[in-house]
Amino acid sequence: MKGTSAKKQGGMRAAGRRAWLMFLAYAMRFLIVAAIITVAVFVQQAASRAFGEDTGAVAAVMLVAVVFLSLALTVFELLVRKVTVERPVSRIAEMAHSIASGDFTVRQEPSHPYGNYDEYDCILLDLGRAAAELAEAEKTRLSFISNVSHELKTPLAVIQSYAQALEKPGLSDETRAEYLAVLRATAEKLASLVHNVLRLNRLEHRKLAAQPDEVRLDEQLAGCILQFEDAIESKGLELVCELDEVRVFSDAGCLELVWNNLLSNAVKFTDSGSIRVTLGREGGRAVVTVSDTGCGMSAETGAHIFEQFYQGDTSHAGEGNGLGLALVKKVIGILGGEIGVESEEGKGSTFRVSLPERI
Ligand SMILES: Nc1ncnc2c1ncn2[C@@H]1O[C@H](COP(=O)(O)OP(=O)(O)OP(=O)(O)O)[C@@H](O)[C@H]1O
Ligand SMILES: [Mg+2]
Repeated sequence: MKGTSAKKQGGMRAAGRRAWLMFLAYAMRFLIVAAIITVAVFVQQAASRAFGEDTGAVAAVMLVAVVFLSLALTVFELLVRKVTVERPVSRIAEMAHSIASGDFTVRQEPSHPYGNYDEYDCILLDLGRAAAELAEAEKTRLSFISNVSHELKTPLAVIQSYAQALEKPGLSDETRAEYLAVLRATAEKLASLVHNVLRLNRLEHRKLAAQPDEVRLDEQLAGCILQFEDAIESKGLELVCELDEVRVFSDAGCLELVWNNLLSNAVKFTDSGSIRVTLGREGGRAVVTVSDTGCGMSAETGAHIFEQFYQGDTSHAGEGNGLGLALVKKVIGILGGEIGVESEEGKGSTFRVSLPERI
């Protein structure tokens, strides 16, 4: 949770204030008890003077006086408790109840001005912060569900209509093969969406912990590039690789996901020119760059590309779900690395990943 130092300062101020309030409360009680005893002594002397030897009457007057004074003290204690404990606790309970019922918009202002917060104020502020974070998480969850549903709907509709088309009699073998190819490609897209959603979910819930091992990055990158060779060749792109021998102690599976996503984007968004992959060391960190001479992106697009389901280039929107870079970002965060992008519309993009020597 944010604002830890402010919270610490608030806590220290609250502790000072609480000590001062406790001192005042004890002094007040001492004065009241002293006043009661003094009044009781006066009452006793006055009763003795008034009733002389009649000890029964003196005792009765004393009893009434003590009952009255005890009652006054009890009422005073009740009032103090109501103001200093019950009222703030009931505000906290009210707020906690609203949050537990799913209302994350609820807020309660502290009873004291800034700088004089007591512990109840600090609890109220913490509850407010927790509610704001829950509201944000809920918003993200709902938008994630709506994005996933939307991304599922399109391929499902394609599968449905092509399956119906295949049922029609008299289709030529060629058309049948064409429809089947569409069905297979769409099913693959669905499978990749589900796979990515599950992976994101596991990453978000930290169920996918990194399993560090020694990784020869140059060998791993070369292996990944090999998988894209056909696609690069069929698009007539030039491939440039400058890979130094670099070893890191990291999670091989996670790293592979990063390279595959960056390379698949480079191929997808480049129609002519070249793709260049470099690997080296800078200041004790492994640095990988994947550059292309593709469509590039505007600064506005660049600011959102790591968000889930964001797709800047709508002409390629059918070829993915906008989850690749969101996954990459999460994985790199887990591995203690950093990722950045430099891009110019119409000229190309360079993604730069830096990784620590060991996680
Ligand atoms: N090399 C690139 N050149 C130009 N734009 C890119 C490049 N890489 C990413 N982008 C932009 O960033 C967006 C998000 O990329 P991301 O990899 O997350 O999604 P995607 O490739 O569209 O779909 P998916 O990765 O799920 O198949 C892309 O839609 C595109 O607009
Ligand atoms: Mg992608």
